[in-house]
Amino acid sequence: MTGTFISFEGGDGTGKTTQINILAEHVRSDGLEVVTTREPGGTELGREIRQALLHGEDLSPRTEALLYSADRAHHVATVIRPGLERGATVMTDRFVDSSVAYQGAARQLGVDEIRSLNMWAVGGLVPHITLLLDLDPAVGAARLDREKDRLESAGSDFHQRVRQTYLEMARAEPDRFIIIDANRPISDIAEDVRAAYDRLR
Ligand code: TYD
Repeated sequence: MTGTFISFEGGDGTGKTTQINILAEHVRSDGLEVVTTREPGGTELGREIRQALLHGEDLSPRTEALLYSADRAHHVATVIRPGLERGATVMTDRFVDSSVAYQGAARQLGVDEIRSLNMWAVGGLVPHITLLLDLDPAVGAARLDREKDRLESAGSDFHQRVRQTYLEMARAEPDRFIIIDANRPISDIAEDVRAAYDRLR
């Protein structure tokens, strides 16, 4: 595969979508093909799974974990791998690390089990870099100016565990992760994101 694979991670309300769009513009202006996508819901099937996950009936933690990984398997097979094979720069809003933090740690299903499940689902695909937008969950929650979905409504302990797990993962894999302080103006964050991308090239 000749493309570049970049994932954006972080809690809810950290500004990942905004930053993906800014970086995508930058990369496109270099004349490269960019695919921006997200999980859950980067495919048609994924949008149905997303609806079930975020707005459907109550799910057991294991059911939730399997639905996120099923969404991801289909996303990798039909969007991410084909994009990378064409040589595109693929930027995804969330990937395997989201499940490790949310289902593995915060839902307490076990980080190793959830990582193995998802590595199987994606056939071992790992991003070239992962940009972790780090923010106090209380600040992130205050930024969400709409009704909360099922995951966003989980308590503050849940979101603290998500944040701590992301930081631990980043420390364990310093060559892949870049931690970015997301409690700053959008343009300052974008500068760090772009610098991380430029270093990769
Ligand atoms: P996201 O689409 O990032 O939220 P937004 O509605 O702000 O665009 O993600 C939806 C929720 O799903 C979010 O609370 C995080 C959660 N999530 C998991 O719990 N596990 C996962 O593997 C993924 C991809 C997301």
